[in-house]
Amino acid sequence: MGKLKTPEDLKARYGVDQVHYVDTIKQVLANLKPDCLLILHGTNSDSGKTCTKTSFDGLNEFNINDKILHPIISECRVFKTPLELEVMRYANKISSEAHKDVMKKVRSGMKEYQLESLFRHYCHYNGGARLLSYTCICGSGINSSVLHYGHAGAPNDRTLKNGELCLNDMGCEYYCYGADITCTFPISGVFTENQKIIYNAVLASSRSVMDNVKPGVSWVDMHLLADRVHLEHLLKAGLVKGNIDEMMEQRLGAVFMPHGLGHFLGIDTHDVGGYLEHTPERRSEEGLKSLRTARKLEAGMVLTIEPGIYFIGVLLDKALSDPIKSKFLNADKIDQFRNFGGVRIEDNIVVTETGMELLTNVPRTIEDIEALMAEGKNLDIKFPQQKISVNSN
Ligand code: GLY
Ligand code: MN
Ligand code: MN
Repeated sequence: MGKLKTPEDLKARYGVDQVHYVDTIKQVLANLKPDCLLILHGTNSDSGKTCTKTSFDGLNEFNINDKILHPIISECRVFKTPLELEVMRYANKISSEAHKDVMKKVRSGMKEYQLESLFRHYCHYNGGARLLSYTCICGSGINSSVLHYGHAGAPNDRTLKNGELCLNDMGCEYYCYGADITCTFPISGVFTENQKIIYNAVLASSRSVMDNVKPGVSWVDMHLLADRVHLEHLLKAGLVKGNIDEMMEQRLGAVFMPHGLGHFLGIDTHDVGGYLEHTPERRSEEGLKSLRTARKLEAGMVLTIEPGIYFIGVLLDKALSDPIKSKFLNADKIDQFRNFGGVRIEDNIVVTETGMELLTNVPRTIEDIEALMAEGKNLDIKFPQQKISVNSN
C-alpha cells in the first residue's frame, strides 16, 4: 500500500474541517450530540437505482432521517459551482482534443475499437484522465444508428469502410466529472451529398437550440425545436412531405430522433436531478418521454445538447405501417437511406445568466471536419487489426 495518508494529509487535500477513522465514527458523532443524523438514501430518477444506505456499527443508537437529504443533494448537483465548472471545462478540453486526434487518424480498414483505443490513450497520456465517463460508442455505417452501440454484445468490432459515416460518442472523466461528446464524420474524410443533407440538418438543430438556450426556457421546448428543424430539412430533401405543424402534432420527429435532446451532466454522465418532486413530470409523448429532464433551464446547469437523425429499420417500418404517420413519409426516398446509419452531434454546455457557454471545442461544420481530416492524411498511420494473432506462438 505504500505510505498511508494521515488524517492531516486528507484534511489538507480535501479542504474539510475534520477527518476521523471509520472505526471512531460512532464516538465522534455521539460527542456532537446531534438531534438527528441525515442519511443519504433515495432513488435516482434516471437510472432507477437506489443508493446504498450509509451504515456503521451503532447507527441505530441515533435518531435518523433518511428522507430529506437525497432530494437536497440531487438539487445541489444540478447547479455546478465555479470550481466544478473548472474541472468540467478541463474534461471537455481533453475529450475535444482526443476526438480531433482520432478523426485525424481514422483510416478505412481499421476496426471501430481502434478508435476507442486511440481516444482512451489520448485522454490518459495527454490529460491524465485515467477513466472514461462511459463505454465508448464508435458506430460505423449502419451501426451509427444504434444508440447504445459499443456494449459488450456489440463491442465496436466492425471494420470501417470508405463511403460510410462513423459516429464516435466518447468522453473522459476527470476527478469524477465527465464529458459526453459525439462527433460524426465520413470515414473517407469527405462527405457524400446525402451525408451532407443529414449532417447539416442535425447541425442546424444543434445550433438553433444553442441560440435559444437561456434561463427560463423549457427543455421540452428545445427538444421540440430540434424536431422542427430536422423536419424542415427532411422536407426540403424530400424524405418527408406535408405540413410541418401536422407532423409535429403526430410526433413524426421521434421516428428520426427517438432519444431525448440532452441531459444533465456532471458526476454521472446522465446526472441526477432531472425529475424531482418540485420539477415538471416526465412527458408521455414519443421522443419527449425519453427526455431525462423536463425542467426549465437555470444558470449553472450543465447539459448535453445532442440532437440526431437516424434511419432505424424497425422505427421506419413501424411509421410506414402507421396510417397517420405514413402519410408524411416518402417511402421510396427513405428506402435509399436504409443503410445510412445516423448522425448525432453532441456538445456540452453551461447555462449562463444570459445564454450559454459552450464547453466542447471540436470542428462542427462540414468544411472544418473535412479540413481537419485532410490534415490527418499526412500522418503515417499503421493499424494492424490484431498484431498478435490468436494462433501465433
Ligand atoms: N453517451 C451517452 C449519452 O450520450 O447520453
Ligand atoms: Mn454521448
Ligand atoms: Mn449524452
